[in-house]
Amino acid sequence: MEPTASRIEIDGHGITVVERGPRDGLPVTFVHGFPFSHRMWRPQLESLSDDFRCIAYDLRGLGTSQVGDGQYTMESYVDDLVGLLDALDVEAAVVCGLSMGGYIALRGIEREPDRFLGLVLADTRSGQDTDAGKLKRAEAIRTIKARGLHAYAEGLLEQLLAPETFERAPALVDRIRRIVESSEPQGVCGAQLAMAARTDTTGVLPLIDVPVLLLVGELDRLTPPDVAEEMRARVPDAELRVVPGAAHLSNLENPEAFNGALRAFLRGIRWER
Ligand code: MLT
Repeated sequence: MEPTASRIEIDGHGITVVERGPRDGLPVTFVHGFPFSHRMWRPQLESLSDDFRCIAYDLRGLGTSQVGDGQYTMESYVDDLVGLLDALDVEAAVVCGLSMGGYIALRGIEREPDRFLGLVLADTRSGQDTDAGKLKRAEAIRTIKARGLHAYAEGLLEQLLAPETFERAPALVDRIRRIVESSEPQGVCGAQLAMAARTDTTGVLPLIDVPVLLLVGELDRLTPPDVAEEMRARVPDAELRVVPGAAHLSNLENPEAFNGALRAFLRGIRWER
């Protein structure tokens, strides 16, 4: 069952949030990938909320958060993340970001290191887009405008998921497709432009002074394990776990392995309430 979502105002903007777990537990904020919503974190919230205060939200323009003018930047996503922690009275949290969520978390720790107790980077990269990557985003925007999110989702899921996931878990694939289709096209296009314009955050990796867990699907083609290993080697206190049988959506394709590694990491975070 989906946890009950509430709506909070951040900078005059309606943001959808779900919270599960003990109010006095270690706060863990989940930042979803593109073009999904907080609903992609369901297996993590279900499993980890017995011990931890799990917070997940919809990025501005995605899921059921307000779309506004459709013009976003990594800076505005980080503003929202910080605004969310303020609104929930969370001084600092472990932030867990997958892919685009990782871009936001990395820029967040570069800008606001004191708000982080730990960092989980799943299937992501610190580098910015290549020219080929930017052109691919322009093509995606063209597809979404001409043919809608349904047509866009078809091609996207093939890139994101392992071939075995389609055979083994068709209900999961349908659920992911429905999450993609539930956003507004304008918000999805705005997210593409924000990602294309993001800065390179590789320079912050050696400066991170909280524990970092990197997770990556062994079959991830978009942000493969060697990209995660390059990041791990730059961070002073980092461990890397490869998620077996999963591609880019490792938290959904193999939630048991993902949750096991995440839980062990969270148990090791030193924190005073
Ligand atoms: C994601 O899963 O968030 C996307 O692959 C990120 C991107 O398009 O760079």
